[in-house]
Amino acid sequence: MKILITAGPTREPIDPVRFLSNRSSGRMGYALARAFARLDHQVLLISGPTSLEIPDRVDFIPVESAQQMFDAVAHSITGYDVAIFCAAVADYRPATVASQKIKKHEEQLTITLIKNPDILGSARSIMGFSGYLVGFAAETEHLEAHAREKLLRKSCDMIIANDVSQDGIGFDSTHNQVWLIEAEENTALPLDTKEHLAHHLAAIIEQRAGQKTKMNSR
Ligand code: CTP
Repeated sequence: MKILITAGPTREPIDPVRFLSNRSSGRMGYALARAFARLDHQVLLISGPTSLEIPDRVDFIPVESAQQMFDAVAHSITGYDVAIFCAAVADYRPATVASQKIKKHEEQLTITLIKNPDILGSARSIMGFSGYLVGFAAETEHLEAHAREKLLRKSCDMIIANDVSQDGIGFDSTHNQVWLIEAEENTALPLDTKEHLAHHLAAIIEQRAGQKTKMNSR
């Protein structure tokens, strides 16, 4: 199968030397890319800046901003069987990017932010993706209800949801405990390292995507 994965944070430029970003390490997306490559699938990883090594036998497109990630996904996604959106895309970006370094002349500085395109939310509607679509959801409360709302709103087959209010799991950590939210059921997976969890998730997604392809070809 052909698997497209987004990973890492995005960087939204303010001026030539500054940007807005977040604490995403990229570990979950890179671990998934490695797991699918080991299962002999053809993997494309589209990633924001991280300190991780590019996994072996994985095609790689480096990007910085949300708009660049959107463009890379839109350009590549046709023909893929599975798309997994792990990236922690910045929801907003500065409305204007200063062409020169901003000097500290003022006591206060206001930066106006505008909304970035929702890459996962555009996969079906704008990019016409018809394969198996997986999103991630980071929640601090009502995890199952909020993740199910995202599943429907973004037309996903699966949302992998985790509770970011718990210390030591999820964002910028080595471990994660996730729920799989699908049309018919919610399933809790045990706490695991991101590396182990990625192998578990890759096996489940491989099976579900195979089922979807079979049903669509009937
Ligand atoms: N996502 C994306 N493009 C964006 C924002 C998010 O592709 N501009 C994807 C992420 O990669 C992830 C999912 O959408 O798969 C997360 O959805 P989002 O609605 O951003 O959820 P949260 O980050 O949990 O934020 P919120 O609850 O504030 O909506």
